[in-house]
Amino acid sequence: MMQTLTVGLEERSYPIHIGSGLLDQPELLQRVLPRKRVAIVTNTTVAPLYLQRLLQTLQRIGVSSLPIILPDGEKYKNIATLNLIYDALLTNRCERTTPLIALGGGVIGDMTGYAAATYLRGVPFIQIPTTLLAQVDSSVGGKTGINHPLGKNMIGAFYQPQLVLADTDTLSTLPDNELSAGIAEVIKYGLIRDLPFLEWLEQNMDKLLARDTQALQYAITRSCQNKAEVVAADERESGERALLNLGHTFGHAIESGMGYGNWLHGDSVAAGTLMAADLSQRLGWIESQDVARIRGLFERARLPIAAPDLGVEKYLELMGLDKKVEDGKIRFVLLEEIGRAVVFGDVPPELLRLTLKACTAHD
Ligand code: NAD
Ligand code: GLY
Repeated sequence: MMQTLTVGLEERSYPIHIGSGLLDQPELLQRVLPRKRVAIVTNTTVAPLYLQRLLQTLQRIGVSSLPIILPDGEKYKNIATLNLIYDALLTNRCERTTPLIALGGGVIGDMTGYAAATYLRGVPFIQIPTTLLAQVDSSVGGKTGINHPLGKNMIGAFYQPQLVLADTDTLSTLPDNELSAGIAEVIKYGLIRDLPFLEWLEQNMDKLLARDTQALQYAITRSCQNKAEVVAADERESGERALLNLGHTFGHAIESGMGYGNWLHGDSVAAGTLMAADLSQRLGWIESQDVARIRGLFERARLPIAAPDLGVEKYLELMGLDKKVEDGKIRFVLLEEIGRAVVFGDVPPELLRLTLKACTAHD
């Protein structure tokens, strides 16, 4: 059964539809496609799996499509690949009314959203996420952008889609490690603001890993509910939205420090979340059994529990570029207790160094 949530942003509010078989339902797309032409941005992995189905669905409502097929991978989430989108749109004379559809994971969603925000100063944008991570997090909330060699997601814009269509059937082809990477962001919602959901995850992790349809649909819906509430309250991250970045200050340092694409985003977030938990414990906010509880859940989700050893100085240098830095101070999302996170900018440097040493893998 399809579930529909709304991201409440007044005149820019939009629905998130979650369910099985949605790619074959043209009526869900019709409302946001008043004109008869769209551009679909996807990649070389997702196109052979789902592009034809989407093209057929659009044909049924008389919409013609321009497919734009990009190379696959985080290492291509950059200005050169973004330019390929602009090239195709301009060459094919796409207009201000031509919507861009993102068909793929978070990399395609973030890049397509940024192209939509900037092409002709803004064109309509639709998200069709096909990874668990994109269905529970990146397709919702309007953060779009690309990486810079000096830092992750450093160039971008807030630009909301008009519709999110999460067809849970697409998860059947997702590799196991990508499923786990998505689960890292699901666990995040439990840790920062939804303890009952965390408890549900502890009870149902095996079902999620086995891709039980009902469990997946529940986890996606509950995650999107959490995200929609936070985004509606703080679209541009002047407060509460920063909490969605639990583990990300460390995680983004891992991703860029290891070279984009060598550590999955979700894996980096998992290792980074354990670093944030370790730091929270050193501050005396949570207990060692709380850290063990989080570690145990990540282990069960087949996520990494140790970060790569980039060296303390390298971590500090990379984290100094975090988007949450204010007046030169790194602001961390930390846990006051399991189920409640805060942003904290006064971490004693010696505690941070201890965390960086304790949580990295030493061969
Ligand atoms: P991804 O987009 O790289 O997708 C992971 C892999 O799965 C890719 O190889 C992709 O081609 C493949 N794939 C996609 N759908 C598939 C399917 N149905 N079957 C088989 N293979 C499939 O990675 P991701 O984890 O989806 O997204 C990570 C990105 O999202 C990062 O760049 C991160 O910064 C970004 N992100 C953005 C936000 C946001 O709010 N905008 C939030 C979280 C993460
Ligand atoms: N993924 C963090 C956010 O959307 O704010």
